[in-house]
Amino acid sequence: MLVHRNLLALWLLLLLHVSGSAARFNLFAHKKNPVPREGDVRLFGGGVADGRVEVYHEGQWGTVCDDGWDLAEARVVCRQLRFPGARSVVIGKDYGTAPGPIWLDDLKCQGTENYVSTCAFKSWGTTDCSHKEDVGVICESSGSNATDGNSTYSLDHSISLSDERGQIFDSGSGCDFSISVMTATGNTEEDGTPEMASTTVCAHKAILSQFPLFNASEGTAGITVDISPACQPNFSSFIRYIYTRKMEVTYSSVQCLHWLASKFGVKQLMEDTGRLFTQILPEDASFHTQVSLYEYAVETGDIVLQENCIQYLAWNYQNLTSSPAWTQLSVQLLGALLLRSDLVVPDEYFLLWNVESWIREKGASISSEAQVDLLKRIRFPMIPAEELYNLEPNSSLYATHEAMYQKNLLKAFQFNVLLFSNLKSNPKFDKDDDDYRPRIYTAEPWSTTMTRTQNRRMHYNQYDRYNQYNQYNQFNQYNPSSKVITTPVHNSLIFKNNKIQWEANVFNNQQECSNRGVRCESFPSARLAPQSSLTEWRHILFRNRLLLMCQGTYIFQVQDFKNNMAVNGSRVPAYPCPDDQYTHQFVVRPEYV
Ligand SMILES: *[C@@H]1O[C@H](CO)[C@@H](O)[C@H](O)[C@H]1NC(C)=O
Ligand SMILES: *[C@@H]1O[C@H](CO)[C@@H](O)[C@H](O)[C@H]1NC(C)=O
Ligand SMILES: *[C@@H]1O[C@H](CO)[C@@H](O)[C@H](O)[C@H]1NC(C)=O
Ligand SMILES: *[C@@H]1O[C@H](CO)[C@@H](O)[C@H](O)[C@H]1NC(C)=O
Ligand SMILES: *[C@@H]1O[C@H](CO)[C@@H](O)[C@H](O)[C@H]1NC(C)=O
Ligand SMILES: *[C@@H]1O[C@H](CO)[C@@H](O)[C@H](O)[C@H]1NC(C)=O
Ligand SMILES: *[C@@H]1O[C@H](CO)[C@@H](O)[C@H](O)[C@H]1NC(C)=O
Repeated sequence: MLVHRNLLALWLLLLLHVSGSAARFNLFAHKKNPVPREGDVRLFGGGVADGRVEVYHEGQWGTVCDDGWDLAEARVVCRQLRFPGARSVVIGKDYGTAPGPIWLDDLKCQGTENYVSTCAFKSWGTTDCSHKEDVGVICESSGSNATDGNSTYSLDHSISLSDERGQIFDSGSGCDFSISVMTATGNTEEDGTPEMASTTVCAHKAILSQFPLFNASEGTAGITVDISPACQPNFSSFIRYIYTRKMEVTYSSVQCLHWLASKFGVKQLMEDTGRLFTQILPEDASFHTQVSLYEYAVETGDIVLQENCIQYLAWNYQNLTSSPAWTQLSVQLLGALLLRSDLVVPDEYFLLWNVESWIREKGASISSEAQVDLLKRIRFPMIPAEELYNLEPNSSLYATHEAMYQKNLLKAFQFNVLLFSNLKSNPKFDKDDDDYRPRIYTAEPWSTTMTRTQNRRMHYNQYDRYNQYNQYNQFNQYNPSSKVITTPVHNSLIFKNNKIQWEANVFNNQQECSNRGVRCESFPSARLAPQSSLTEWRHILFRNRLLLMCQGTYIFQVQDFKNNMAVNGSRVPAYPCPDDQYTHQFVVRPEYV
C-alpha cells in the first residue's frame, strides 16, 4: 500500500515537473500546508527571525499597533513562534505596508504568556492607529545557544509533499539516477594511488534535474563525485534535502553542506548554511574558524560568506591581533583587512606597529614587494601628528622601505597642517584616496562606552560577573543613560583646538525618547548629537559609528547614525549575541568632504 502510494506520488511529481514552488501543488494543500488557526502569529517581510508582527483572526492576518509595544510583548510573540527569546522590538521599520486590518492595539502582556491573544488589548480591530505604526520584532534565532557547540538548526523551506518526497528518496523506489560517492580511505593502493571507497545513492532525475550541475539529463544514468571523508556521511542528507527542502543541520555538518550546496548550485541551501556561519563566528576565540572560513569562502568564490567573515575580523581586529590565528594569517587576508574603513582599532598608529610586527614575525617569507604593499595600506594621514614625529626612530622597517615611508610621511604632514581647500587645489591631490578617510578609531578622545541601563536586567545581580554592570544600572535605574564627550572637530593638527561636544544617549523605551523629543524606531535606541551647530564646519562631515559589544568579548554589530540616531549600517546580517548583554560604544569620525 505504501509503495503504491509512493508510486502514485512519484507519478504526480513527474507529471507536474517539479518546480519547487508550492503553488503547483495546491491540489494537496490541505494535506501538508498548515492552515493558520485563530490567534496564530507570524513575522512578515523580514528574515527567519524578524519581521512585522501579524496575528491571525477571523480568517485574516492583521497587524499590531505600537502603542504599548515593548519587550514584554515581543517576548510573547517570539515564545509563541518558538524562538528562545526576543532580541529587540522594531517600530516604524519598512517591512512593507500591510494590506490587512490592524487587529491589536494597546497590547499589554506580562511577558510570561504563551500566546499573544491571551494578553490584554482593546478588542479585535479596535484601534486609532494607521499601518505606519505597525510593529516588528527581532527574535533570538532558533537554537541560538550559541556558546554550546552542539546546537542543531532546522532549515525548513518545505514544500507540499515534502514528507512523501522524503519517503520516495528513502525507499529509492523508481530511482533512475545513480550517484557514486568516492571517498579516500586514507590508505594507498599498491601502485601508490590513494585507495578509494565508494558508496552509491540512488535518486530521481525528475527531482535532481532542477539543478543542472547534477547532469541529471535524459541521456545520463548517473554521476561519480569525489567527496572528502569528513563530508561523506552528510552526502545522503544533502540529496534528501533536495527532495524535501528540510534538514537538521549541526555545526559538524554545516561547512560540508555549504560545500555540497555550492558544488551543485543549490542556492537556497548555500544561503541558509551561509547564515549559520554567521552564528558560529563569535564562538571561536582562537579565530581559527573565522580565518579558515574566510579562506574557504575565497576558494569557493562565495562573496557573501567572504564579506561575512572579513567584516567580523575587521570589527574584532584587535582581538585577532592577539589570537593564535594572527601569525598564520595570509598576506591576502591581512591586505584585504587593511583596505577596510570599518576596521575597529584604537588608532592608525596602533595599526602601523601591528602590521610591522606581523611582517617582522613572518620574516623573509614575505617578499619585499608584498611588505611594501601591506605598509602602503596604512593610512598615514590618519596617524596623530605627534606620533608621526616619532615614527622614524621607532619603526623597525623604516630603513628597509625608506622611500615608501618618506613619501607617506610627507603626505601625512601636509594633511595635518594644510586646510582641505589648500590640498584640493593641488592637482596631484586625490580627495577620494582612502588614506584621507578614517577607520573606526576607539582611542581617546574619539570614543566613549556606555553600558545599557535596563531595569529588566536586575535579576542578574546574583552573578558576580555582572556586578559592575548592575552597579551602573542601580545608579541609573530610572534615568536614560547619557554621557558628554568632547572631541576636536577634525583629527588633523590645524583643528586641534577647535572642540566640539557630543551627547551620547541610550534610550530604553518610548517614554525616554519622548522626554527628549526624539522618535525611536526600536529599543534600545542610541543617539549621538553635537551640542553646537556644525554649520561652521561645512567641509567636515561626521560619519559616526555605534559599536555593539557583546558581553565584553566581541563586536557583533556596527551601526551608522542618521539624524543623530543609530541605524543598522551592516551589509550582512548581524552576529548573534546571546542574552542581549551588550554595551554601546560611540565613535566620532570626522571626514573632509
Ligand atoms: C538553551 O539552553 C538552555 C539552558 O541551558 C536550555 O534550557 C534550552 O533548552 C536550550 N535551547 C536550545 C534550543 O537548545
Ligand atoms: C558536544 O557533543 C559531544 C559528543 O556528543 C560532547 O562530547 C561534547 O561535550 C558536546 N559539547 C558541548 C559543548 O556540549
Ligand atoms: C557534468 O558534466 C560536465 C560536462 O560534461 C562535467 O564537466 C561535470 O564534471 C559533470 N558533473 C558531475 C557532477 O559529474
Ligand atoms: C553529518 O555527519 C555527522 C557525522 O559525521 C552527523 O553527526 C550529522 O548528524 C550529519 N548531519 C547531517 C545533516 O546529515
Ligand atoms: C577579546 O579581548 C578581550 C580583552 O583582551 C577579551 O576579554 C575577550 O574575551 C576577547 N574576545 C574574544 C572573542 O576572544
Ligand atoms: C617612539 O620613540 C619615542 C622617542 O623617540 C619614545 O618616547 C616613544 O615611547 C616611542 N614610542 C613607541 C610606541 O615605541
Ligand atoms: C541590517 O541590514 C542588513 C542589510 O540590509 C540585513 O541583512 C541585516 O539583517 C540587518 N540587521 C538587523 C539587525 O536588522
